[in-house]
Amino acid sequence: MKLRLVARVEARVPAPVAVLAVFEGSRTLSPVLEPLQAQLGDSVAAFLKSGAFKGESGEVRELTPGDGKFERVLIFGLGKKDKLTADALRKLAGNAQRRMDGAKIPKYASYLGASVDGVKGVGLDAATVYETIAEGMLLGGYQYRGYKTDKAPQRVDEAVLFVPRAHADAAKRGQIIAEGTLYARDLINSPANYMTPSDLADAAARMARNHGVKVTVWNRQRIERERMHLLLGVSRGSVEEPRFVVMEYGKPVKGKGPLVFVGKGITFDSGGISIKPAANMEQMKYDMSGAAAVVGAMMNVARLQLKGHFVGLFAASENMPGGKATKPGDVHNSRDGKTVEIINTDAEGRLILADALSYAKEFKPSAVVDNATLTGACVIALGHAIGAMGNDAALMDRVRAAAEYSGERLWELPMWDEYADGLKSAVADLRNVTGGRGAGTISAAKFLEKFTDYPWVHLDIAGAAWEDKDSGYRPRGAAGAAVRVFTKLADGWFR
Ligand code: BES
Ligand code: MN
Ligand code: ZN
Repeated sequence: MKLRLVARVEARVPAPVAVLAVFEGSRTLSPVLEPLQAQLGDSVAAFLKSGAFKGESGEVRELTPGDGKFERVLIFGLGKKDKLTADALRKLAGNAQRRMDGAKIPKYASYLGASVDGVKGVGLDAATVYETIAEGMLLGGYQYRGYKTDKAPQRVDEAVLFVPRAHADAAKRGQIIAEGTLYARDLINSPANYMTPSDLADAAARMARNHGVKVTVWNRQRIERERMHLLLGVSRGSVEEPRFVVMEYGKPVKGKGPLVFVGKGITFDSGGISIKPAANMEQMKYDMSGAAAVVGAMMNVARLQLKGHFVGLFAASENMPGGKATKPGDVHNSRDGKTVEIINTDAEGRLILADALSYAKEFKPSAVVDNATLTGACVIALGHAIGAMGNDAALMDRVRAAAEYSGERLWELPMWDEYADGLKSAVADLRNVTGGRGAGTISAAKFLEKFTDYPWVHLDIAGAAWEDKDSGYRPRGAAGAAVRVFTKLADGWFR
């Protein structure tokens, strides 16, 4: 879908439907919408004045005015003025978009921003309003058609959003941020046979070429030379060769190392020899969501031309039970030199991340944030929220602030030393699982921590990365989790 911005509220938009919103208890349109009255028609004003529409959040009404320029006018409730959040607006824009996509119309005009802008007593600045609405529209309008051969039903192909000239840049920011997320969603939703480790590396390289990001793709021989034996150990069971991808944007900054993003790129997780049960195994194509988020975030950083030095890393592999696969009890070396006894081959994410985190040391980073669909335990603990763990309170605060800004749910879990107790091995420096049933998300993070020596936060996105049903700006399938957190963190990092 194309998002077109118009700068004059009275500009005639040849669309059959107009979308707007009113606050609870308000019987008039926002002052910014005054010049649109004539086009909306008198019956819309009369309807609002009657009090038949309460303006409660979740309320929606469709009018067919007859007297105005639009065939239909869709009015949403915004709830109480002082309660409106950026994320509520993002959700509203997403819901409106999905409703329009189902309405079999080519085009609609959105006055959602103008419905909030200029209203007194709202706790959001106008730039945030227009940014989040543009973001919500594009995120909500996403649909993965994949490999369906029938003709797609008609959806909106152009949404016209009224944005005053002063806030056009904010709306464009929202658009860019959403598009990076959509790029990640596409990579994730792709079936694993069309998104092998080399396909994923190619997609990252294509993104990098198109947006002025430096990129290097390592093949198996190079990965061997780089001594990433944990990554190699995971990929042994597959006929698909692993890849390691290094992306870089901006130039070294004096006195402050780069901000490094790291992702888990398991393009399919069968569990390996410790094979997974059949139920829902098809979902394990999304086990590369962490890598996809790094690609989407680097795309955003480049398109927003953020000042500073940013590095994106991911390790890509399949986790399969082929004849050469790593067996439970096998020991592999790591890039770091620490040896690891592989007790459970299904705990593969922490292995490939360990080598990536060790490599990140070479950039002398000011901070590293990794993200991974790492543990089923995180889905049990937090549901559709990101689990965050780390070794640096100040960095955690900044990650939390970035998540709050972007509406991504994130919650910190403790990193007490006792959680690492079960990681001792009788034959190697470490084992890859504790064997116990408790706090699996945290013991995974404790394993990763052993491979870090810089300010670091780990995001477990196992629950946040996938949606089972449509809601707000998150249609079912890949969510594109962490892309917007990363983008916001990057935006503030070198200021
Ligand atoms: N990719 C999975 C984690 C996962 C599970 C993500 C469900 C999304 C939904 C990961 O590689 C894995 O298999 N983890 C194991 C760890 C266990 C063996 C300690 C798990 O969570 O069961
Ligand atoms: Mn696994
Ligand atoms: Zn996995």
